[in-house]
Amino acid sequence: MVDTDTFVPEAVAEIGDEIGDENAVIALSGGVDSSVAAALAYEAIGDRLTPVYVDTGLMRKGETDQIRETFDYMESLRIVDAKDRFLEALAGVTDPEEKREIIGEQFIREFEREAKDADADYLVQGTIYPDRIESEGGIKSHHNVGGLPEVVDFEGIVEPVRDLYKDEVREVARHLGLDEIVAERMPFPGPGLAVRVIGEVTEEKLEVARHACHVVEEELEEYEPWQALAAVIGKATGVKGDNRVHGWVVSVRSVESRDGMTARAQEIDWDTLQRIQSRITGQNDNVARVVYDVTHKPPATIEYE
Ligand code: XMP
Repeated sequence: MVDTDTFVPEAVAEIGDEIGDENAVIALSGGVDSSVAAALAYEAIGDRLTPVYVDTGLMRKGETDQIRETFDYMESLRIVDAKDRFLEALAGVTDPEEKREIIGEQFIREFEREAKDADADYLVQGTIYPDRIESEGGIKSHHNVGGLPEVVDFEGIVEPVRDLYKDEVREVARHLGLDEIVAERMPFPGPGLAVRVIGEVTEEKLEVARHACHVVEEELEEYEPWQALAAVIGKATGVKGDNRVHGWVVSVRSVESRDGMTARAQEIDWDTLQRIQSRITGQNDNVARVVYDVTHKPPATIEYE
């Protein structure tokens, strides 16, 4: 485990040494990794760091407000409302890898503009140890590792938490006094809710996924999952009132893991599952059924695309 008492001052000093008198940017995702990297870098260079949060419209419920509150103390914080641009770029696209690519590219475009605006020489990233392993192994395209450095000509990249595991990053977050919500927040994929709706990304599916994810996170808190989520996985017949409807199928997933590389589906009691089902179908007229995913990783992945 990381010794936070020595790690934090050392990391801050190292960031200061690397960046010197120059400017830096960091993309805040709402997750704990980039939050910790930003907090450390801000401590090192203050407002010469521009933290950029791009609201892609693919975020969790309340995430943008949470960011605004948590990082309110950073005067240089920029929040970019890019919802419409992301949805437009994704319209009609159904292939999972193509979706990821489009999101990555759009993100780079948004971020590049902000980085130029901030006159940034350095890029700070919240890359953690398992990200590097998965990227090096070609398991998935991580947009917090690839992409950005190639399009924006940074003098250097600073990755203050690159050797830490997720649970160690959480410890550092608590040590830094970051909001408990941020420190404890479950991992969330870069492409956001787009990988929790199978096929085309539409506002309707996103709304269902966003609400269902919120319900699942709330109801399963006591199970302390590594990740608990819900995804819109297709359509099926249901009955609402006196009518047969063709509604969305929502899959609920809750897994335990140390680093996301492997995971075990959690055993959840029936009453809790029923409560989740009734909240999701009760508050979304267009949801016909809710299922629970019992598959470990491998053979499944944690996310749905
Ligand atoms: P999978 O679905 O591959 O996910 O089992 C493993 C862990 O990684 C997260 N994940 C991502 N994180 N960018 C990220 O920063 C991504 O593109 C991405 N895809 C998946 C996922 O939520 C899980 O914690």
